[in-house]
Amino acid sequence: MDKTSIHGMWSSRLMFILAATGSAVGLGNIWRFPYMTSDNGGGAFVLVYLGCILLVGLPILMAEILIGRHGRVSPVNTLRGLARESGVSRGWVGIGWIGIVAGILILSFYSVVAGWTLHYTFLYVKQLFGGAPISDPGATFAALLGDPLELTFWHAAFMLLTVGVVALGVEKGLERAVRFLMPALFVLLLLLVVYGMTTGYMGQAAAFLFRPDWSVIDGGTFLRAMGQAFFTLSLGMCTMMTYGAYLPKGISIPRVGVAVALTDTCVALLAGLAIFPVVLSFGLDPAGGGPGLIFTSLPLAFEAMPFGILYGLAFFGLLAVAAWTSSISLLEPATAFLVERFGVKRRKRAAIAIASLSWVLGLLSVLSLNRLSGVRILGRDIMTFIEFIANDLMLPLGGLLIALFAGWALNRTILREQLPDMPEALFLVWRWLMRVVAPLLVLIVLVRAVV
Ligand code: PHE
Repeated sequence: MDKTSIHGMWSSRLMFILAATGSAVGLGNIWRFPYMTSDNGGGAFVLVYLGCILLVGLPILMAEILIGRHGRVSPVNTLRGLARESGVSRGWVGIGWIGIVAGILILSFYSVVAGWTLHYTFLYVKQLFGGAPISDPGATFAALLGDPLELTFWHAAFMLLTVGVVALGVEKGLERAVRFLMPALFVLLLLLVVYGMTTGYMGQAAAFLFRPDWSVIDGGTFLRAMGQAFFTLSLGMCTMMTYGAYLPKGISIPRVGVAVALTDTCVALLAGLAIFPVVLSFGLDPAGGGPGLIFTSLPLAFEAMPFGILYGLAFFGLLAVAAWTSSISLLEPATAFLVERFGVKRRKRAAIAIASLSWVLGLLSVLSLNRLSGVRILGRDIMTFIEFIANDLMLPLGGLLIALFAGWALNRTILREQLPDMPEALFLVWRWLMRVVAPLLVLIVLVRAVV
């Protein structure tokens, strides 16, 4: 007999794909991917990243959804149940705890950056009503980062939006938010790529993105590419496990997995193809753009193109929405856990409690951009340090353990029950990736980076 989740269920396959894609596609694709590529030497980084998606990301994505759907409860409780069922150590529950902690850490800075997109949306709204144009995007961005109150305000606004949706629950909250807005963002990105083609710099941009220069690569690059792969697919912190718990039986996990990974990768590459022609055509340096890259480059294009204000408004507005459909998935695993612990009536309070914690932590990121910008931990400012611990270390570690759990702890019957339509040969490949290839790759990258 199949269980259903007490938190609600996705109403259809499409809804799951939209929600999971909504989680995957976000700041990771449009803000982080371009600047990580810019800071890590272009093509070689992109190639390593794509390799990580295919060999590590996609298989683990399937494993997370599968584990979630079998357990039907929040990650910690799902892992507890599955460990008992399979007769293995209770220690595997630790994966769920890594997920909760990583989620709170990531949400803390994610909300700050999403706040920047809200601020930019607002700047374009003001322009519509005669406000000053963003004629020097570098200065505009620096002014924002230098203003802790402004940053805190937008950080708070974004966190409120996030809690609002999570508190409403799966059908009422999450589904409604993703149905129309994700496709709109996709179309807008495509239009930006078309604009990029008119600049005459598309060839150079594509060369930067896809022609690898291996001389700029080191152990750190591999770690960052791996971290980016986990971050962009929302993997390693049980987000996809949580969403899998709401996935009705009878929907093919390999198919939805491929759909989500493919869409996510396409959006990241499209973002690259949209941004780098602009960067090049305005004479900016494509290398070393830093976290401000899209905020300091794209407004130049919006000022230059017809209807640019409307375009800028739509772009940053939709980016904020993409961040929103991701941030709700950062909050959901911990919220679902508290709900199971303290009762279904407590969803609102559970969401508020976790979000408040994340919000307070986020103030550290806010301050690290101005008042505390001199503070360095292991050579990084506070925000970059939190990002490093959560994205580059905790997510790959969580993913590694999930791969081992799915590969070695779960028995074949459970796996096959969740993957009935997968041809035997593919199943064997997948299981082998879970058992050996993915854990080994992650381990090598982690060890090399730490040593
Ligand atoms: N995948 C999201 C993005 O690319 C971020 C995220 C990470 C969401 C981990 C949930 C869990 O923006």
